[in-house]
Amino acid sequence: MMLEELRELKEKALQELEGVSNSKELESWHIKYLGKKGRLTVLMRGIGRLPPQERPAAGRLGNEVKAALESAYEAKGEALKREELERTLREERVDVTLPGRPVALGRLHLSTQVLREIYRIFAEMGFQIFEAPEVETDLYNFELLNMPPHHPARDMWDTFYINEQVLLRSHTSPGQIRVMRKYCPEPIRVILPGKCYRYEQVTARSEFMFHQVEGLAVGRRVTMADLKGVLIEFCRQMFGAERKVRFRCSYFPFTEPSVEVDIDCIICGGKGCRVCKHTGWLQILGAGMVHPQVLANGGYDPTVFSGFAFGMGVERPAMLKYRIDDIRYFFSNDLRFLEQF
Ligand code: DAH
Repeated sequence: MMLEELRELKEKALQELEGVSNSKELESWHIKYLGKKGRLTVLMRGIGRLPPQERPAAGRLGNEVKAALESAYEAKGEALKREELERTLREERVDVTLPGRPVALGRLHLSTQVLREIYRIFAEMGFQIFEAPEVETDLYNFELLNMPPHHPARDMWDTFYINEQVLLRSHTSPGQIRVMRKYCPEPIRVILPGKCYRYEQVTARSEFMFHQVEGLAVGRRVTMADLKGVLIEFCRQMFGAERKVRFRCSYFPFTEPSVEVDIDCIICGGKGCRVCKHTGWLQILGAGMVHPQVLANGGYDPTVFSGFAFGMGVERPAMLKYRIDDIRYFFSNDLRFLEQF
């Protein structure tokens, strides 16, 4: 009887073990058959109550069954662990052959690209780059450029004042004085790029912050012919070799004589269109021979030295070159705009 029961139990237990599919079920199985109150344990306790002659055989078989179940349990545990590992490896596999996510590449801002193009052209003509402060004094921004307090020409620039004396430079021209004072009495050939600020209504055509590039050449025999040669060369490299360049009389307090420089319209080729307001010409530069008083303010003797200077915007010409119809795109940092350049 007992032997029969033990064999049946073994068979049943092993059969059940086959259906076990995870470690939780496996533990329940172990408790059910081999635990302190497990079936086999309980059954084996009954061996003591058997007639003495049956005990050895039952005891032997009981131990065999126990050992068989324990080892089947161990083996199942190992098998489950292996299965689980395989499943995790399968499910969490990384496909290393997948192409990586593309790295978003940054690029130079359009203003920076145009500035660098300008640097390149002037560098070829021997100009070095000099940087002057964006926060300036009234003295440098106006007075030393021949505009004493209350001079009406100050109205050409709507200036952001920080206090009575300190302001955000409204043009790059104050850098001229700084370069001259630094290098006097050496000859000078520099460009001064940078940001300028004006207290203006922001519109499609004007921003309160923009870039300018100033130019300054000072030496013993610098003439208007040098100014024309340099600026014509610049305009043709920047806007196309076929460009016509026009010098028109103008007025700036810090140059004498003063000119404004126009190129024939790059949109209509000079025939007249909306962009050039039907004149056929686009104004891109202010320039002139450095005023003797400004040379003197920079430390140079105007009876010995002469010089020419010019100043140009960066964003306006960029708008012409790239057909951008609103200056506000430059600094509103919309990637859809910036990515186009
Ligand atoms: N500073 C002038 C402006 O912002 C531009 C300018 C005109 C600069 C004539 C010059 C110059 O150096 O000679 O409108």
